[in-house]
Amino acid sequence: MHSNYEIDEMISAKSIAARVEALAKEISEHFEDTDKLVVVGLLRGSFIFIADLVRELDLPVEVDFLEASSYGNSTESSREVRILKDLRGEIEGRDVLVVEDIVDTGHTLHHVLHLLEARSPARLMTCALLDKPSRRETGVKADYIGFEIPDEFVVGYGIDYAQRNRNLPYIGAVRFTS
Ligand code: PRP
Repeated sequence: MHSNYEIDEMISAKSIAARVEALAKEISEHFEDTDKLVVVGLLRGSFIFIADLVRELDLPVEVDFLEASSYGNSTESSREVRILKDLRGEIEGRDVLVVEDIVDTGHTLHHVLHLLEARSPARLMTCALLDKPSRRETGVKADYIGFEIPDEFVVGYGIDYAQRNRNLPYIGAVRFTS
């Protein structure tokens, strides 16, 4: 664990807000015929993104949460993903949008999609604020992506470093100083 680091702003709060608005417009158009979209936030990182996104959606929505934790041998692609908190509601026959803060290796999203697909939703789509394609270890790709970013350690807007910095209003890159 590095004790000293600085955070350089990578994506401003204003840029995030503009992108969230644009994503919400696309999503609202795609699901305009949906009775009530189930928006599923993956805890904990997505809590700010989902809060902003649902307020921009011009649709009836139901909000639910799922908590997944990934861990394992960092040099192998056989990562395990555990479900720590499952959905409260049923999704069979429903239109579902899974909301992620960041897709890195893709193991979390891959596992969650596999789990949710088995429950026979009508449509299952995904939205990630950040995408780091250079780190991908699975074939998963979000349907809606806010920003594609390089392989940098990022924090803020829900994303933590050792459970800190989730409350930053912008996305920052961590620069370790020692
Ligand atoms: C982070 C992030 C994504 C996941 C992405 O969650 O919020 O859910 O990792 O990584 P992957 O694509 O390599 O699977 P984390 O497990 O750190 O939990 P958190 O959201 O509670 O911070």
